Amino acid sequence: MSEATPTLYKGLVGVYADVSSVSKVMPETNSLTYRGYAVQDLCEESNFEEVAYLLWHGELPNAGQLAAFQAEERANRALSPALLRVLREIPRNAHPMDAIRTAVSFMGAEDPEAADVSDAAQRRKAMRLLAKLPTAVAATNRLSKGKEPIEPDPSLPFCENFFHLVFGKVPQPEVIKSFDVSMILYAEHTFNASTFTARTVTSTGADIHGAIAAGIAALKGPLHGGANEAVMHMLTEIGSPEAAEDWLEGKFDHKALVMGFGHRVYKNGDSRVPTMTKYAEKMAEVVGDRRWMETSRVLAAKMMRVKKIHPNLDFPAGPAYYLMGFDIPMFTPIFVCSRITGWAAHVFEQAADNRLIRPLSHYTGVEQRPVPPMSAR
Ligand code: COA
Repeated sequence: MSEATPTLYKGLVGVYADVSSVSKVMPETNSLTYRGYAVQDLCEESNFEEVAYLLWHGELPNAGQLAAFQAEERANRALSPALLRVLREIPRNAHPMDAIRTAVSFMGAEDPEAADVSDAAQRRKAMRLLAKLPTAVAATNRLSKGKEPIEPDPSLPFCENFFHLVFGKVPQPEVIKSFDVSMILYAEHTFNASTFTARTVTSTGADIHGAIAAGIAALKGPLHGGANEAVMHMLTEIGSPEAAEDWLEGKFDHKALVMGFGHRVYKNGDSRVPTMTKYAEKMAEVVGDRRWMETSRVLAAKMMRVKKIHPNLDFPAGPAYYLMGFDIPMFTPIFVCSRITGWAAHVFEQAADNRLIRPLSHYTGVEQRPVPPMSAR
């Protein structure tokens, strides 16, 4: 006896799964706010550390609150010798997202407050993750190239320290600003796949390291965070602005996805793209290499003309990171270093007013039947 098909929301399209006061996407006006502040204003008027504080506390910090937040972050950057040994054991050709997911699991296992899921302990653990993730991402990258990890420098702000950890030096302020803007733009985006994953794990009463490891696993996919790497692979494959139109025609012929375009919620443009494009253009100026941004421009114009599909944040972020000198497999791990702020804000919010996340499935398999004896199979 088959039951009537209930209304299905495949991909949970259009489903409101809970309330949230962390951020708001307004697709009708292509806008995004964090705790009520327009993200493009935060990019111009604040920095990533202030935005991290805002996401976790609901308000921008005053000078004293920011200083305390920065001091705590700077004091927690070092990895344990045991974790460094684990990172050394990870195969050099492994994707760094797998290494970072492993690092977060290990950090959870060795965290002194591992089993404490009180709000205060979860917040302290989130701070430790925010502080240690860049160290782990940079160490993974250096070890994959046969180089030794660099010790974090507690005298440097968050973004400067990240360049120090990867390259052993801090670049000019324009580069830091472009990176900082990318970190603000990647920090938070309502109930995307990885955030919803982190909330689902939290809804079971599990700890924040588990939620963040699961979020990292979800972010790796090319339909989600992995798109920033895919965009740069695409641009290097195309090679030059002159080749872009023909390359795209080939994709249209095969009805292939073009990475860095389209979005589940924004159908008329991603609110974050103009700001990130502006700073990717600045990077092209600083480096003196306009090839990737020109190629991007040709692709975006033709995608709009033919498919009416807009680029998403990964489209300008990919070339921006490449121009900053980062290896392509680092792009999604950098996204992790930023999104830990949004994920953690949602973990706190979910835990504060929790109900186990457990949807239903409509069964379409075979009808109930008897188990046949082995001789009859
Ligand atoms: N390239 C080519 N076609 C695309 C496309 C893209 N990047 N994004 C969407 N489309 C097409 C779909 O194939 C679909 O075509 P159809 O109606 O002929 O089947 C149509 O546009 C509508 O797609 P939609 O339902 O709006 O997509 P979605 O909401 O299920 O998926 C994404 C959203 C992000 C998964 C999808 O746009 C995508 O895969 N983009 C590329 C990966 C990417 O950049 N991800 C980062 C997201 S921030």
